[in-house]
Amino acid sequence: MSAIAHSRILGSGFVVGEHKVKNEVLSKVCDTTDEWIKERSGIEERYFVREGTGTSDLGLGAAKKALENAQVDAKDIDYIVVATMTPDYYFPGVGSLIQAKLGLSNIPALDIRQQCSGFIYGLQVCDALIRSGAAKKLLFVGCEIHSGFMPFSKKGWDVVMGESNEPISQEEKDWNSKFRHLLVLFGDAAGAVVMGPSEDGKRGLLGFSLHSDGNNVESLYVPSAGFKYRPYFSEAHVKEGRFVPVMDGRTVFKMAVTKMPEAVMEVCQKTGHTLDDINLVIPHQANLRISEGVQKQLKLPDSRMYNNIQRYGNTTAATIPIAYDECRTSGRIKQGDLVCFVGLGAGFHWGAALMRE
Ligand code: UT7
Repeated sequence: MSAIAHSRILGSGFVVGEHKVKNEVLSKVCDTTDEWIKERSGIEERYFVREGTGTSDLGLGAAKKALENAQVDAKDIDYIVVATMTPDYYFPGVGSLIQAKLGLSNIPALDIRQQCSGFIYGLQVCDALIRSGAAKKLLFVGCEIHSGFMPFSKKGWDVVMGESNEPISQEEKDWNSKFRHLLVLFGDAAGAVVMGPSEDGKRGLLGFSLHSDGNNVESLYVPSAGFKYRPYFSEAHVKEGRFVPVMDGRTVFKMAVTKMPEAVMEVCQKTGHTLDDINLVIPHQANLRISEGVQKQLKLPDSRMYNNIQRYGNTTAATIPIAYDECRTSGRIKQGDLVCFVGLGAGFHWGAALMRE
């Protein structure tokens, strides 16, 4: 039996894609407006990577910042866990790529794919690894490059990335507009934390409430690049736009505003806390309106809910570590605070984690 009561976060950091893309730019390549995007999602801008940057590169950037913040040398890391739904390659995952880029070898590197709940699911895995004694200094990265899902041609992409002002054809705009409800929401970024045993036994992760339900998989999924097909990816998939995620936004929205507050209440109950004990809820950043819906149901004042989707869009597994890092560095979270992470995403997977900072 391990004597370690809790694991805790020792340091955090994040990076974003190299190029900032404001809503107005997206209105040049599809039928949308800054007003619509802001009103329906709260998003004002997001970052996309330049060609050649991989998810492991963003993950590496975030990892380095988290290591520096935790004052931990990379060579002391004995386990790497990565949450991503957008790996550099179909296989292997990103964990071993980040390991090699950090100049490490031999230590275990594990990838998990729980999409927007990746960070919360991963926290439970990391916590268990540390409490069991399997890891003493663990690096946990949430990283995503969503721009690869975008339907733009080279011409459209150059406009998005500020490299061309040439108008795209109406035909291309019509094609892109088929995906407009989706392409305005996402961004590229990575967040990371370094974790280890909690010395005083009080600080750290206190409990989790996690759930999955595979009954509505087709409400949010990528209908290509899968081994249900032979070959697993084809020219027809590209022509039909089947590499772009399919998303029934309303179903996802409703699930999120129902299941996220339930998960917060459940993790409080499981750990012997009440909602009033929580200093700050950090929700997965999928849509500002979802966060507002969750906040309303939990009857929380603005001071106890954190949002930053306005500046980054939805970066899936990276949203929570980015928000957490901003809160730590700005003083919004102080030592001793009770922090609740909560999210829902494709799968569907959802859940909450409670942590004493
Ligand atoms: O982390 C999990 C990932 N996904 C999510 O969390 C998504 C959750 N869902 C959402 O965020 C919202 O459902 C969306 C932002 C995707 C859509 O917002 P909505 O308020 O549910 O809009 P809607 O889909 O009901 O569409 C309303 C109208 C439609 O036009 P009509 O049929 O009323 O003429 C859409 O075609 O808005 C139109 N529309 C757009 N208009 C301008 C959809 N996307 C756009 C767009 N720009 N980008």
